[in-house]
Amino acid sequence: MIDAKKRNNNKINYVKYNVSLDKFGDGKKFFVRTYGCQMNEHDSEKIKGMLKSVGYVECNSVETADIVILNTCAIRENAHDKVFGFLGVLKHIKDTTNPNLLIGICGCMSQEKVVIDEIMNKYKYVDFVCGTHNLDNLLNIIKDKIDSNTQQIEVLSYEGDVVEGVPVVRDSIYSAWVDIQYGCDKFCTYCIVPYTRGKQRSRTKESIIDEVKKLKEDGYKEVTFLGQNVNAYGKDLYTDYNLANLLKDASDIGIERIRFVTSHPWDFTEEMVDVIASRDNIMPYIHLPLQSGSNKVLKLMNRRYTREEYLKLYNSIRSKIKNSSVTTDIIVGFPGETEEDFQETLDLVNECKFDGAFTFAFSKRENTPAALMKETVSEEVKMDRLHRLNEVVNKYSNERNKAYEGQIVKCLVIGPSDKDDSKVCGYTENMKLVNIDGDKSLIGQIVNVKITDAKSFSLDGVYVK
Ligand code: SAH
Ligand code: SF4
Ligand code: F3S
Repeated sequence: MIDAKKRNNNKINYVKYNVSLDKFGDGKKFFVRTYGCQMNEHDSEKIKGMLKSVGYVECNSVETADIVILNTCAIRENAHDKVFGFLGVLKHIKDTTNPNLLIGICGCMSQEKVVIDEIMNKYKYVDFVCGTHNLDNLLNIIKDKIDSNTQQIEVLSYEGDVVEGVPVVRDSIYSAWVDIQYGCDKFCTYCIVPYTRGKQRSRTKESIIDEVKKLKEDGYKEVTFLGQNVNAYGKDLYTDYNLANLLKDASDIGIERIRFVTSHPWDFTEEMVDVIASRDNIMPYIHLPLQSGSNKVLKLMNRRYTREEYLKLYNSIRSKIKNSSVTTDIIVGFPGETEEDFQETLDLVNECKFDGAFTFAFSKRENTPAALMKETVSEEVKMDRLHRLNEVVNKYSNERNKAYEGQIVKCLVIGPSDKDDSKVCGYTENMKLVNIDGDKSLIGQIVNVKITDAKSFSLDGVYVK
């Protein structure tokens, strides 16, 4: 992690996936558990793709698996606790019913030195660790473990190549994740991602556009472009090609829905707002993390925008993009945040009336700049602020959702409803979850739905022809 803080001038190589091994997983089963963000979800689809390529098949319980991989997240302390808690469950299985169980760790936690030290010293039953920069080498690491029967740990402090063509098994046949960039160069002071994922590397426009074309040919209705700040797409690779250009080119392919996460306000240009506003197949949903409404705290966080700049962009999105919805992320209890600073966050939330917000209590991450700042907000005060913030946030989610009652909206139906198996569920263009009175034959289609009832986190509706 210490080395990973330095950005280097190492050239990034764009290479093809090139691992060919015998089918050493034939007759065996795998189980993958994913923590964290959408990028990790997509990485898990690659982990599954690689495992299947050597014969493993997926199973849905750890008790029946021959290999279990935890694709971990390091963003907050509780993500860390969840992983070590689950390792205890796996150790029990290994000690009792399945001594041959292979246990592996991938994802952001594997890039933390403290975690690796802990695994090497205290968790000897973990069979292998594969870092985020060499995920494409996963199968070789597993094979080495099987052949040598010694713990294998392969983690790089510097980012590796951008690897194209890693086998992938997608969880959905209608909606697909598409990486457009890896890493992050923003260095927000609280955040571990620039260290665990390395410097920003954009995929080439050709490989992204090819992937979208293939997905459309395969019948996909929706693609979601992924990156830690997609608005910075291309900055490391091109002088005259950015997210606005990429969205236009992808839109021209004619796939029905294009989404993107996550947007950083700093790189979000008016040109991008205009492209989103002008294309029907670029979805009017923006996740625009705010983090704090106080200029003092924003500066301490190194967010590089002020509340005034955020509001200007926010208002432009709301006024130019028809039927847009905007959600956000907010951290409370950052070192130095006073009650007045927190009030400024509440004021901004009252002004923006977000469609939704993910709210977090500041969690100190080892080796980030904020870890050196003196913590001034007690756990109790953090929880109190979180609670007060959530009340305001939920009020506006509910209000925004209520406005849809009686309206007819377009939904991409993705599967049975979690709440009621006789119903299906889907997402509106602006990313509202709808539980739909309609039968399973609608799954995979974009259909009209009349909204009958609104809740804070979802809508109810009925299919209309
Ligand atoms: N790249 C995205 C954020 C990815 S992490 C962006 O910059 O907008 C998702 C969210 O986790 C962040 O927006 C932030 O609100 C939260 N987060 C990140 N680090 C955190 C920390 N140390 N403590 C609490 N919340 C944190
Ligand atoms: Fe973390 Fe900031 Fe990068 Fe987002 S933009 S991943 S919060 S450093
Ligand atoms: Fe977590 Fe890594 Fe994503 S820290 S949020 S899994 S980039």
